[in-house]
Amino acid sequence: MADVFGVLARDHTEVKRMLDDLEAGPTAATGASEDALARRRTLLQKLITAESMHEAVEEQYFWPAVREHVPDGDALAAHAIAQEQSAKLELDDLIAAHPLQDRFEGLLSDFVAGAREHIAFEEERVWPLLRGVITAEQANALGGRLRAAKRFAPTRPHSNTPPKAGLLKAAGPVVGAADRMLDRMTGRDRG
Ligand SMILES: [Fe+2]
Ligand SMILES: [Fe+2]
Repeated sequence: MADVFGVLARDHTEVKRMLDDLEAGPTAATGASEDALARRRTLLQKLITAESMHEAVEEQYFWPAVREHVPDGDALAAHAIAQEQSAKLELDDLIAAHPLQDRFEGLLSDFVAGAREHIAFEEERVWPLLRGVITAEQANALGGRLRAAKRFAPTRPHSNTPPKAGLLKAAGPVVGAADRMLDRMTGRDRG
């Protein structure tokens, strides 16, 4: 069973691969066909689903653990949650845009840059500090909680929901169930 770092690293690898693929294009400006643009939009939806679930469970369980265990964890968590919140707002804009619109690629490259910076902040600044202060048992237990919460996590950004752990834990499964119903109705879950 993966511990908290293994669970998060697997998500990060998946997200980074999607960021690379989206960055590689082709885009409307570089002559993408209609099919290629449709695939681009599907890939973006997959990224939004992966990213939304990942950040939701981090906000429910990971950042509270950082605040509890890491000296200066409050400041680290606040910085990361601010990054996550601005990513959600960028995703809202991207959801409302279309790959054929001029603004789409600009929004996307801003999002990709911010997402990479956020992942690097977590992996390089935060993980080593948390790793140094929690036991293997605590890391395993936290990994288990993240895995369990992901099963019910929201699949959309929900930038209007304040990123408070208690609120997200209470509302997350309800919002997640509504998201999944919408995903089924719109065929998004079939990608
Ligand atoms: Fe995050
Ligand atoms: Fe993360």
